Amino acid sequence: MIQLKQVHKYFHRDTDKEVHALDSISLDIEDGEFSVITGTSGCGKTTLLNAIGVLDRVDSGEIVIDSEDITTLDEEQRSALRLEKIGFVFQAYNLLPVLSVEENIGFIMRLRGFGEDVIAQRVKEVAGILEIDNRLKAMPLQLSGGQQQRVAVARAVAVKPALVLADEPTANLDSKNSEHLMRMMKSLNEIEKTTIVFASHDDYVVELSRRQIILRDGHVVSQ
Ligand SMILES: Nc1ncnc2c1ncn2[C@@H]1O[C@H](COP(=O)(O)OP(=O)(O)O)[C@@H](O)[C@H]1O
Ligand SMILES: [Mg+2]
Repeated sequence: MIQLKQVHKYFHRDTDKEVHALDSISLDIEDGEFSVITGTSGCGKTTLLNAIGVLDRVDSGEIVIDSEDITTLDEEQRSALRLEKIGFVFQAYNLLPVLSVEENIGFIMRLRGFGEDVIAQRVKEVAGILEIDNRLKAMPLQLSGGQQQRVAVARAVAVKPALVLADEPTANLDSKNSEHLMRMMKSLNEIEKTTIVFASHDDYVVELSRRQIILRDGHVVSQ
């Protein structure tokens, strides 16, 4: 589904020093994968996830999503592609505090123009899988961190995106909630065949993933 071919990305610091954040990354991600990008802090995990998720541009190389080279798209095409195909989960849950749990979960479906009946049914369905169906009327800040992150996951997967990217989703959770979140995401991967790629060095994430892509200093050392 996604191919990266010799992708390079540099960051320029205020000093004359240049950081080679992605150093000739070539990688295939298949439909239905449950994979983790791992490696020590600063090795390039977030940069790689943001490149795959069409959030950031790279300096050279190709990134092909469903046979389309996304490096040639303009900003408008890039945001349309993001909205249509990619779901994001971040370390800080990034829920909208003024919307209820069910409104948060349905938020992207509403942006995409789905009908209210379809949204209501789908919100119930994903909330059931993620075990937050008894909190649909609550506001995000009334929930525990673990529950908030499951709402963020529900929102990301509600539109059935081709790919879900999760950057350190367990970083703010204790071990019990991390394990629970990972088991729920694994169920989603199995029940709905959602392709999920994590960036993490958390043991629970690495243990439960089916494939590990290990980065060091911006290149893949093992996969
Ligand atoms: N916006 C930025 N400006 C300058 N350097 C950056 C920026 N983002 C990341 N970097 C550098 O790129 C490298 C990879 O960072 P990152 O992808 O965030 O690593 P990780 O997510 O694995 O901790 C690091 O050396 C980091 O300091
Ligand atoms: Mg990171």
